[in-house]
Amino acid sequence: MIELEVALGERSYPIHIGSDSLRQATHWRSALRGRQVLVLSNSTVAPLYLERVLGGLDGLAHASLIIEDGEQHKTFANAGRVLDALARLGANRDATLIALGGGVIGDLGGFAAACWMRGIDFVQMPTTLLAMVDSSVGGKTGVNLAAGKNLAGAFHQPRAVVIDTSTLATLPEREFLAGLAEVVKYGAIGDTAFFAWLETHVDALLARDATALEAAIASSCRHKAGVVARDERELGERALLNFGHTFGHALEVEAGYGEILHGEAVAIGMRLAACLSSRLGLAASKDAERLQALLQRLKLPTRIPPGLQPHRLLERMRLDKKSVSGQLRLILWRGIGQAEVVGGVAESAIEEVLASD
Ligand code: NAD
Ligand code: GLY
Repeated sequence: MIELEVALGERSYPIHIGSDSLRQATHWRSALRGRQVLVLSNSTVAPLYLERVLGGLDGLAHASLIIEDGEQHKTFANAGRVLDALARLGANRDATLIALGGGVIGDLGGFAAACWMRGIDFVQMPTTLLAMVDSSVGGKTGVNLAAGKNLAGAFHQPRAVVIDTSTLATLPEREFLAGLAEVVKYGAIGDTAFFAWLETHVDALLARDATALEAAIASSCRHKAGVVARDERELGERALLNFGHTFGHALEVEAGYGEILHGEAVAIGMRLAACLSSRLGLAASKDAERLQALLQRLKLPTRIPPGLQPHRLLERMRLDKKSVSGQLRLILWRGIGQAEVVGGVAESAIEEVLASD
């Protein structure tokens, strides 16, 4: 079992990483302060893993709420259903919500926990690779609105993150590969040695080798924990975690939600950000080529899917949350491991990169 910490003073919390950590409840029971627990999961994950969690809740008053599977269910209405379930449980301020599932369940459960009685504890039990290396750590919670993704939300840190790597055995291949894109991101933005390690462990990662996966997840979580501890509210460094995301979000929306998975869009977006960096003279083009080669070996897409228009993508990019006073700010790099925020990039340069794909 690997144990890391997100250091946030009295709100610090552990990240437990192990191959059977859900069943090893002694590691996470101490995160439950009160006597009441609501477990939130979805209709795909609950039949597979809910029993493991319930097995650790002996002696506590607990209930489960299982919602439908899918991004379209990360809604205000479902946050309301979670609050109603907490009400039925008679949850006090020391109750805990456990979010068992991917990023959808983690974001929704965390948001409901932030709302119930102005904030109760919650524990993240991520079961997708993306949730293990990204969404379960850092306290960004929220739901989608008709007007856009993640528009309603709260910063609310979990009390613990419990990563059971054995749950990855049932994750569909496409979801697994999409999670690897976020793993590559940590090397790309700030850790040349980790990037090189990934290059030498492609086969092991694709084979879901337990040792390689545990090491990749631990490195990713260590990175994210460090960034969150230094910049919890994204006033600076945390924005670097959005490398590839401005391009990626535009691709996701333009293709139609669900057509391209988030991690796939991030893979394409990271390559576009690297190409733009080369075009602007910030980085050598061999670094962009190295990134593209790694992503391709990890079976991730790196090219814009046919049919998406550069000017439409640019229009979508202008709506990015990082834009300030109508000016796009992008996360670019000076080469592998050296990402930075760059403002005032000429839109013509962005469109050229989009058009040249
Ligand atoms: P997801 O939660 O939809 O899970 C993907 C699919 O895998 C689902 O069908 C799910 O039921 C299934 N699944 C989950 N675990 C499984 C398992 N072990 N075996 C078999 N199937 C399993 O998607 P995701 O990629 O985990 O998360 C995406 C969400 O995360 C988005 O809503 C995104 O906005 C959010 N997100 C949040 C943050 C953050 O910092 N809070 C960061 C990145 C992404
Ligand atoms: N996923 C980006 C962040 O947590 O800041």
